[in-house]
Amino acid sequence: MGKKLIIANWKMNLTVNEASLYVHKLDKLAGKLKHTEVVLAPTMLALQPLNMQVQHHHFNLAAQNFYWRDRGAYTGEVSAAQLRGVVRYGIVGHSERRHIFAERSKDIRSKVQAAVRNNIVPVLCIGETAQERADKETSDVIRDQLVGGLANITSVEVGQIVIAYEPVWSIGTGKFASPRDVERAVKYIRLQVEHLFGKVASEKVRVLYGGSVNPDNAVTYLRIPGVDGLLIGESSLDVYAFANVIKKCETTFSTSAKKGK
Ligand code: 13P
Repeated sequence: MGKKLIIANWKMNLTVNEASLYVHKLDKLAGKLKHTEVVLAPTMLALQPLNMQVQHHHFNLAAQNFYWRDRGAYTGEVSAAQLRGVVRYGIVGHSERRHIFAERSKDIRSKVQAAVRNNIVPVLCIGETAQERADKETSDVIRDQLVGGLANITSVEVGQIVIAYEPVWSIGTGKFASPRDVERAVKYIRLQVEHLFGKVASEKVRVLYGGSVNPDNAVTYLRIPGVDGLLIGESSLDVYAFANVIKKCETTFSTSAKKGK
């Protein structure tokens, strides 16, 4: 079994100094990690200063966003080419980017491709809104967002990326998706990846769950078959809560490893 991947998406929170202090505290609280890969997605400003600090602590960094062109006259943008070597992961197609900043499928697949081109692992976020859920369109949305997001990359590349299932209605709302619904969605994601890119890609691709994850429900989501980790917003802002999630993950999977599960 591979390590569980736990990503803290701080969104537009924490200053550079606060981020640095957080990393320092997290290292002390989390201790040695055997079963968990921890990734922090701070504000763009903090990526460079945190780069040295996290290497030392064995955490990885993710960009919350980037532009898909490598360089040029794009005022205010940061490219994946500029982030190369600074981050290991890049979040793409987060629902806040889709809905607040009107990112379209076309932008999202170009970003996925730009990340891959620049040696950054894309974390492609997909998920249905409350309305789409009420209209029983969850599967259609998942399929469309996968087709739209992955169109520019190869099967081998798909096997190396991360897909995060984040139902929009659960993000930042405290409304929990049921483990059954998450299991069904994750199964469906792998099935679609298999149809589009083959069995190897569908088995290799890592799938995360995100949406109102906290220290109390994290293990429930982590235990769902097919879930390789978590993408956490709000609760990751509190270093104690986030460290708690990590510790619970470590304990859960070290016990499973001992039992040979
Ligand atoms: P919350 O954990 O605050 O629901 O946010 C999830 C999310 O959007 C992570 O990218």
